[in-house]
Amino acid sequence: MLRHCVPSCFVFRTRTPGLTTSDSHFASLFFSQNRKIYRMDAAGLDSYGREFETADEMWREHAGDSSKKTQWYRDGVSYWEGVNATMDGVLGGFANVNEPDISCSEDFLKILLSERFPPDASRQPLVVLDCGSGIGRLTKNLLIRYFNEVDLLEPVSHFLEAARETLAAGCQTNTVHKAVNFYCVPLQLATSDSTVDCDLFLYCLCLPAAAFDLFHRCLQCFLSPSTNCNTAMEPLQCHLLSPFSQFTPLSHSARFSFFSPSLDFTPDTGRYDVIWIQWCIGHLTDEDFVSFFKRAKVGLKPGGFFVLKENIARSGFVLDNEDRSVTRSDMYFKELFSQCGLHVYRSKDQTGFPEGLFAVKMYALTTDAPKRAPRAKSKTSTNRPRTIM
Ligand SMILES: C[S@@+](CC[C@H](N)C(=O)[O-])C[C@H]1O[C@@H](n2cnc3c(N)ncnc32)[C@H](O)[C@@H]1O
Repeated sequence: MLRHCVPSCFVFRTRTPGLTTSDSHFASLFFSQNRKIYRMDAAGLDSYGREFETADEMWREHAGDSSKKTQWYRDGVSYWEGVNATMDGVLGGFANVNEPDISCSEDFLKILLSERFPPDASRQPLVVLDCGSGIGRLTKNLLIRYFNEVDLLEPVSHFLEAARETLAAGCQTNTVHKAVNFYCVPLQLATSDSTVDCDLFLYCLCLPAAAFDLFHRCLQCFLSPSTNCNTAMEPLQCHLLSPFSQFTPLSHSARFSFFSPSLDFTPDTGRYDVIWIQWCIGHLTDEDFVSFFKRAKVGLKPGGFFVLKENIARSGFVLDNEDRSVTRSDMYFKELFSQCGLHVYRSKDQTGFPEGLFAVKMYALTTDAPKRAPRAKSKTSTNRPRTIM
């Protein structure tokens, strides 16, 4: 099977033989104010080699309505639920990229910290959020050394548990640098369909109708305070012959949908100096990508920034049908950043990875436009003789 030789977070270029190197698929439009924007109409491929003319076509097919979208996210998380909570697991069999990944990220982070947060006691404690943290590889090897507090967000519980165990050991000895919060949630908001649907089939054979009703109501009372619980009792096969025959065989089904607020992640206002998102944003649809960054902005302290580290397609996009993730091109990302109202403050290419993998890029993103370097004085003005009054 393709998956056996293809890691999920790194896709061999050989998987995408038809991928063009040109970004010319992006139609560029010129608006009256001469601002050039790119529409998402680059062609892309999936891992079976199928071509999509545009990203919109692909998204419509895979996440075009709420049930497809729910399935998209379920499949993505299910994929990772079947992966071992090890370095090899989260790196798709490429544990050897851990070292160059961490060292390149560290170089980038050091520059960003020195430029954005010059030593200043008032900024302490430095706090970071590790999004799609997996087993806490990045937190353990990099973030916890530079930040006083790290929060981890990861939808796959056995990964997050592994992270908690590894980091707890270190935290006992270090109170100045510690992992604080572990959020078992995805980056996207829950759709109504992706709430935890719990079909509770109560086959109450020979149960009196009144007893079933009482049980159903008790369950509602028990659940409602802690969850925003909608219940609808659907009699599936109700063989109640007459309202007076209390002991006639019954079969009832009750459907409980839990709209739990804890399923959605919106950060506390101004908690983070940095929000780091590595090798997980590909799981989000474009719409949820933009929605996530817009929500997450409120979590940044003034001057704070995002770091997004991702695989980069040479053009358009590449869909991985198995883990339900999309690898976007640099241009695709830049269009999404602009929709999020984010600016690329700095970017850096990953080096030192084995041949054959996707290119990897790091973007530091800010909510404020980078200040332009002061213009060099023109020769005419500097050479103009001064008038001495
Ligand atoms: C390739 S692993 C990377 C893990 C970690 N960032 C690292 O670099 O070691 C991808 C991670 O994305 C997580 N993930 C999948 N879908 C997600 C979603 N919708 N929101 C957040 N994380 C998701 C997976 O559970 C998995 O831990």
